[in-house]
Amino acid sequence: MSSPLALGLIGAGRIGQVHASTIVTRVPGARLLAVADVNLDAARACAARFAIPKAVVDPLEVINDPAITAVMICSLTSTHATLIEAAARAGKHIFCEKPVALNIEDTDRAVAAADTAGVQLQIGFNRRFDANYARVRKAVTSGEIGKPYMLHIISRDPAPPPIEYVRGSGGLFADMTIHDFDMARFLTGSEAVEIYTQTDVNVDPAIGEAGDIDTALCLIRFANGIIATIDNCRKAVYGYDQRVEMFGSGGAISIGNNYPNSATLSTAESIHTDLPLNFFMHRYVEAYAAEIEEFAAAISAGKPVPVTGHDGRAAFALAMAAKQSMLEKRPVSLV
Ligand SMILES: NC(=O)c1ccc[n+]([C@@H]2O[C@H](COP(=O)([O-])OP(=O)(O)OC[C@H]3O[C@@H](n4cnc5c(N)ncnc54)[C@H](O)[C@@H]3O)[C@@H](O)[C@H]2O)c1
Repeated sequence: MSSPLALGLIGAGRIGQVHASTIVTRVPGARLLAVADVNLDAARACAARFAIPKAVVDPLEVINDPAITAVMICSLTSTHATLIEAAARAGKHIFCEKPVALNIEDTDRAVAAADTAGVQLQIGFNRRFDANYARVRKAVTSGEIGKPYMLHIISRDPAPPPIEYVRGSGGLFADMTIHDFDMARFLTGSEAVEIYTQTDVNVDPAIGEAGDIDTALCLIRFANGIIATIDNCRKAVYGYDQRVEMFGSGGAISIGNNYPNSATLSTAESIHTDLPLNFFMHRYVEAYAAEIEEFAAAISAGKPVPVTGHDGRAAFALAMAAKQSMLEKRPVSLV
């Protein structure tokens, strides 16, 4: 058996801690040797919690550590592209959280840096590794629903992130819908040719004051003829709402939310279930483990990673086209 993949973590915030916990508890094929965060207290707390031997401020100390084979970039989005380039220069394989960058030029530069250096770059589109979405994809590829006509994605968060996060996020399309753009490409097996959006600020006026939106509907036509809708909101009072339906000539397949239990409470007044799992760190536990397992397995076997920088670029291009559609109030072509 080969030794576990030696990983360094950059960014010990929300998702950095989710990945650290996942690696330590569920991925025997990988081991975390160091964590860097510009907030040293955050790095130290993460190191202590997950028994990581080294905690530092400077991400370059992790990237240039000769004991480390691959880095996990989980810092703020604005830092991703520069860190990808630094890691590529150091010959390290890279797992980077979405999105790759805040604009297409930086995205292209970062993806090209990994290609040129011959290192693997996997993007954190964790939903591809979720059993429910994988089953929808299987129904499409196996022909179980005939010729697919329409895809509907509902993706609503339980609550918006802090306003400082919103300001640095690149906006709803680049930060949140990007998961759904990737999912639409994954489920249709095709590329988008046109997108039209309608958007609003309903949840918090501060999000509008920060120049962002919190509610959006995207209508997308794909090259293979499938028409898709993506319904996003930063706040659903009943919790994390992640549903999909694909409809075609031979039927339909839909997936609902995941719940903490399967109990149904029936009384004289009503029939109840508990609320769905509240957010990504609970809903996608299995998917986070699977994406890192597959990353580690691909690196160890010298095989291509399952979700590439080019997938990150394609989803980001959709985010930029969606923004253009919003600003110019018209459908935008992607071809
Ligand atoms: N795939 C997913 O499900 C998912 C979920 C949440 C966030 N994300 C992505 O992960 C990234 C981080 O999001 P978050 O919610 O964890 O944010 P966060 O604000 O909770 O954490 C970010 C951390 O990065 C640190 N940091 C900032 N600049 C740094 C630098 N140059 N070097 C090292 N550390 C640095 C901050 O101090 C902070 O601790 C974002 O790009 C976001 O889009 C992905």
